[in-house]
Amino acid sequence: MTETRYLLEMNQITKEFPGVKALDGVTLKVRPGTVHALMGENGAGKSTLMKCLFGIYKPDGGDIILEGRQVSINHSKDALSMGVSMIHQELHPVPFRNVMENIWLGRFPVKGFGPFKIVDHKKMYEDTVKLFQDLDMDIDPYTIVRELSVSKIQSLEIAKAVSFRSKVIVMDEPTSSLTGNEVEQLFKIIHQLRSRGVSIIYISHKMEEILRISDDVTIMRDGRLIGTWEAKELTTDLIIQRMVGRDLSQRFPERHNTPGDVLMKVDGLTSPHPKSFRDVSFELRKGEVLGVGGLVGAQRTELIEALFGLRTVASGEIHIHGKKVKIKTPIDAKKHKIALLTEERRVTGIFPVLNIKENTIIANLDRYLNPLKLINDHKARIDTDQNIGKLRVKTPNYKTLIKNLSGGNQQKVLLARWLLTEPEILMLDEPTRGIDVGAKFEIYSIIADLAKQGKSIIMISSEMPELLGMSDRIMVMSDGRLSGIIDGAKATEEEIMRLAAKHLG
Ligand SMILES: Nc1ncnc2c1ncn2[C@@H]1O[C@H](COP(=O)(O)OP(=O)(O)OP(=O)(O)O)[C@@H](O)[C@H]1O
Ligand SMILES: [Mg+2]
Repeated sequence: MTETRYLLEMNQITKEFPGVKALDGVTLKVRPGTVHALMGENGAGKSTLMKCLFGIYKPDGGDIILEGRQVSINHSKDALSMGVSMIHQELHPVPFRNVMENIWLGRFPVKGFGPFKIVDHKKMYEDTVKLFQDLDMDIDPYTIVRELSVSKIQSLEIAKAVSFRSKVIVMDEPTSSLTGNEVEQLFKIIHQLRSRGVSIIYISHKMEEILRISDDVTIMRDGRLIGTWEAKELTTDLIIQRMVGRDLSQRFPERHNTPGDVLMKVDGLTSPHPKSFRDVSFELRKGEVLGVGGLVGAQRTELIEALFGLRTVASGEIHIHGKKVKIKTPIDAKKHKIALLTEERRVTGIFPVLNIKENTIIANLDRYLNPLKLINDHKARIDTDQNIGKLRVKTPNYKTLIKNLSGGNQQKVLLARWLLTEPEILMLDEPTRGIDVGAKFEIYSIIADLAKQGKSIIMISSEMPELLGMSDRIMVMSDGRLSGIIDGAKATEEEIMRLAAKHLG
């Protein structure tokens, strides 16, 4: 066999779905022992290309060459046996099994002979401990997966992919739910793998990550290849420009309005769970964007879920428009014109088998009922189309099932859903997670517009630039407590980090 420069070549791959040419002759060549970033806007075709490699989709055309040999991959089992593994954008562990069973599912170690073979739990445990030790991860192999945080599940999926000892590992947005330390941990693992000759195909919308860890960068747009470059030739601006096909000089919209009177006042809000949020007091003004910073685990999500009636509180008061209110259920919250875009949208938010229109209007059906209590489909379509346009949802039309949209585009539909409820208080939990740079700007513009119209926004974000770029004030939480509220215009990353760590160990 002649020596090949590339470990993996995907040549001229095409893939069509009804009404969508997802891949139009895309070529990807990956050198051995490198981190190869795959970039492009939401819906560009990144996940589809990787699913063709992993045997989930069968390409309509093109070929795949692995270590110089043309291969045909018809099933993810084929991919794994040929040394290709993948961490999916949508995580789907088996919730009722424990950590080690999830890792070794379908390939449990066995002991005994012939008909007397039984699962060797001891070996499975030891293998798992060894795997976690190698990766410096701290997860108990016996924990039932349902009880793990999203970030631990993501770590688990990473460990699983590594356990196959693959030559190519695809990571589709592996850090979307990881904490800062866990991201560093992952980068260490990636470096280790790379030095062993493993190639990593890395998909992420986080620019800083890409430039830090990748050797090569391939950029796609609208199902087509734009090109492949060495990372050292690139800058964030160049990547953005090639991804979106236009200059994006501004990452945040200008904000001019000054917040008005106090709309909501929260006093001493405390969860019944001792480790959750406690004694949290703050005010939210009309037309204000209140950023909420903190590390994963700071109880930010829990706090706003309590404000939305999804969690009980042990003590504390909430005033809206100067009146004391009780919010025990989301129905109460809706009555007080509060809306919430949850963090785990893909799990809790979408109705996969309904189409985009239905997913858009579902929180507001009453707005679309005509006097005969039938849905005014015309109005629903107009509103949906408007949102598809405004948020640049990539889809043939409103009839597409939401499960067939790319990850980022699903999130845009859900944001549209809550915007349509015309809330006075809009609470957003990581609103741009998984969203590409171009669409981020659209979402920021919408948030800025809403604030200008006098709506109040509470925005949890783990992205510093976003907190600093959008917030009038930033309240920072640390280990369930409020560690400070700072002026958005004067805040610095260091100050936020310092407050975020204030009540830790
Ligand atoms: N099973 C499917 N049926 C129909 N259309 C699909 C299917 N899977 C993907 N598509 C479409 O193919 C296009 C590419 O989607 P893909 O998921 O590959 O995008 P992506 O680059 O991974 O985006 P993101 O950054 O949002 O994850 C999109 O227009 C999407 O709606
Ligand atoms: Mg994707």
